[in-house]
Amino acid sequence: MRVAVLGAGVIGLSTALCLHQQYHSLVPSLQLEVYADHYTPNTTSDGAAGLWQPYVSDQGDLQETLWNKETFDHLLGLLCSPAAQDMGLFLISGYNLFTQPVPDPSWKNIVLGFRNLTPKELELFPGYSYGWFNTALMLECRSYLPWLTNKLTQGGVKFFHKKVESFQEMFAQGVDVVINCTGMRAGELQPDPELQPGRGQIIKVLAPWLKHFIITHSTQSGIYNSPYIIPGSEFTVLGGINQRGNWSEENSAQDHKTIWESCCRLLPALQEAKVVQEWSGLRPTRPRVRLERETVAHGHLQAEVIHNYGHGGFGITIHWGCAMAAARLFGSILQEKKLARPRQPRL
Ligand code: FAD
Ligand code: BEZ
Repeated sequence: MRVAVLGAGVIGLSTALCLHQQYHSLVPSLQLEVYADHYTPNTTSDGAAGLWQPYVSDQGDLQETLWNKETFDHLLGLLCSPAAQDMGLFLISGYNLFTQPVPDPSWKNIVLGFRNLTPKELELFPGYSYGWFNTALMLECRSYLPWLTNKLTQGGVKFFHKKVESFQEMFAQGVDVVINCTGMRAGELQPDPELQPGRGQIIKVLAPWLKHFIITHSTQSGIYNSPYIIPGSEFTVLGGINQRGNWSEENSAQDHKTIWESCCRLLPALQEAKVVQEWSGLRPTRPRVRLERETVAHGHLQAEVIHNYGHGGFGITIHWGCAMAAARLFGSILQEKKLARPRQPRL
């Protein structure tokens, strides 16, 4: 049974690990392979700050809320393990700021210690009259992706550095199941009019005195299109750009100015911070994540694809819940092929 995972961002590698953990001893013939043309540190996942935070207004999608929760709880369970440091996993607290009252988010009972800001706290942020404070998690992909890669390599998973041109190319090579984790470029393998880039740009600065994230929200500008400041283990990420439909991965001087000036207005002490890096990347934006099975024709035969892409600005936040769901879909294929019996629910 040959399975090809396409993509080596947070979605591809975590899905590969989930499949490996759940099925390698159950299906001795299972051969897992990862194909990607970009590996860490050159994926979108590597550029992201790594904060666990879903969109503030994602009330509608119960399924995505459950995947977010599964991911948070999974990571929280690993927080006190010796692996946490190698994974790039740690707690972080901080502020979400608004210019007017908003409903509580779907994730208020997932994070730790969610509460509204007091008037005294709001005085710290002129121009903002409403907000939340909570503790969440950081999962930095420049550590997490190498950690996942290492675990997969130790488990005998093979990696191929190549651009895949079509699903058919994989099936023609003898692959039985393709897991499509190609993020923003999924449309090159199968057209998807619902998938759109949400272009982001960030500035990384050295500001070790900052310990809390500050994310602002404006009713006019949309998600992650107003200034945010997210301290990491080494550098602090300044952002606040989200341009729907813009495919450019070049840094823009205009966007640099917007981010720098708006973040310095929010926190004037940043004027002293040294800029160390600038990066632009594309959020794979979709009305909802595409996580489903598809049977595709391969000559006069049929083959299976599991899609797992379209995680917008919350791929790290939701990744493990999606990896588990993709693994369940894979289990249904194994059952149909009579390669594995259904797992007994744990009592
Ligand atoms: P990617 O990381 O882009 O990986 C895609 C993989 O597919 C790559 O390995 C690529 O080489 C491969 N691939 C694609 N097509 C092919 C092909 N034809 N052949 C071979 N390989 C192929 N999310 C959060 O949860 N928290 C954050 O703090 C956060 N901050 C962000 C900040 C910015 C500025 C941006 C832009 C995004 C941020 N995100 C954040 C969102 C997050 O980065 C994405 O949701 C996530 O990286 C998507 O992961 P992915 O694995 O699907 O895609
Ligand atoms: C983003 O820019 O997409 C982002 C910022 C903070 C948390 C999550 C996502």
